[in-house]
This record gives sequence, C-alpha cells and structure tokens, in this order.
Amino acid sequence: MKKVAIFASGNGSNFQAITDAVHNQKLHIHISCVICDRPGAFVLERAKKENIPVFLINPKSYPSKIAYESAILEKLQAFQIDFIALAGYMRLIGPTILNSYERKIVNIHPSLLPAFPGLDAIGQSLKAGVKETGVTIHYVDEGMDTGQVIAQQTVEIAEGETKESLQKKIQVIEHQLYPETLEKLLNS
Ligand code: GAR
Repeated sequence: MKKVAIFASGNGSNFQAITDAVHNQKLHIHISCVICDRPGAFVLERAKKENIPVFLINPKSYPSKIAYESAILEKLQAFQIDFIALAGYMRLIGPTILNSYERKIVNIHPSLLPAFPGLDAIGQSLKAGVKETGVTIHYVDEGMDTGQVIAQQTVEIAEGETKESLQKKIQVIEHQLYPETLEKLLNS
C-alpha cells in the first residue's frame, strides 16, 4: 500500500473523509502522517483521535521557506512517504518539496479550475454571479492551482445561495470525490 501524507491547515473534513474511506475499505492506502502548518487547526485533534502521527510545523518558526519545507521533507523521508494529498493546505508548495515529489502531490480545490484559483474560491464564484461551480482535484506544480486536472465535478449555484450553503454543497462532493480519485490514482 502506498504511504500517503496529508497536508492540512484547517478543519480537516477532507482528511476525515479520506480516513473514513480507509476504515471502510473503499480506499487502500496507508495514511502515514499529517502535516499541519497552523497552530490550533482542528485537523490536529482529528489526527490525534485517529492515532495518526501529526506534526505541527509552523512556518513562523523558520527563517525561510526553504528551511520550513526542509523540516517537512525530513518528516516525509522518515516516514518513507510515496504520495502527498493536500486537503485544505492553504500554502503554495515550493521547490524543496516539489523536486522530491514530482507528480506525486495532488490538491483539492473548491472551484472548476482554471476558474477561481487561489484564496476564497467559493466567495469568488458567488461574486462573479456564475450559475455553477464545482470541485477540482489536480496535480500540484509550482503555480497557484495550475497543475494538470485529474477530476472535476460540477455543483449548481442556486438562487439566493449563501457562502455557507454553497460551501456545504461543495464539501459533500469533495468528501466523496477525493477518496474515490485517490483510489483510482494509487490503486489502478
Ligand atoms: C476545502 O473545501 C478545500 O477544497 C479548500 O479548503 C477546504 C478545506 O476544508 N482548499 C482550498 O481552497 C485550496 N486552495 P477541510 O479543512 O474541512 O478539509
């Protein structure tokens, strides 16, 4: 089984969906560790509860991005990680990690890329007044949400949709699409 590291910065509902899929034998990977860059993020609690090693690596504690990513790389190598899944990791991956994991890093993003890359994709889509948005899973390259698309699913934006209601709809799709896509990528 592939040894996977999950990177997250926040709530960790996608981490949870991936973990649940492993428990339910829908996804056949070993979740070796979680890397989190934000003190207090709820994903830290979730990982502890699942008994998955979790490392809070705070960029503020390092003099440079290279030093920060080298600290992460050290963990990845210690766990012999094969593959990285970004799940709400709100930071660009730099060359230190990219060069060691070329085409072995994927990300989930709450829009139909290339539309609405970057921060607050859900807010961006509402502001733009589009009738549909969605979820994208893509390979990570040096750009901001620019890597090759692997899977996409559309979500309709209803009349009077709020950010909260749209986020809920998007996350329902994410929680099913991410484990499914990882299984296809890593086990077929
Ligand atoms: C997810 O909706 C994910 O698509 C988004 O952050 C959320 C994290 O939720 N990612 C990005 O916006 C990346 N640019 P979670 O912490 O509950 O999994």
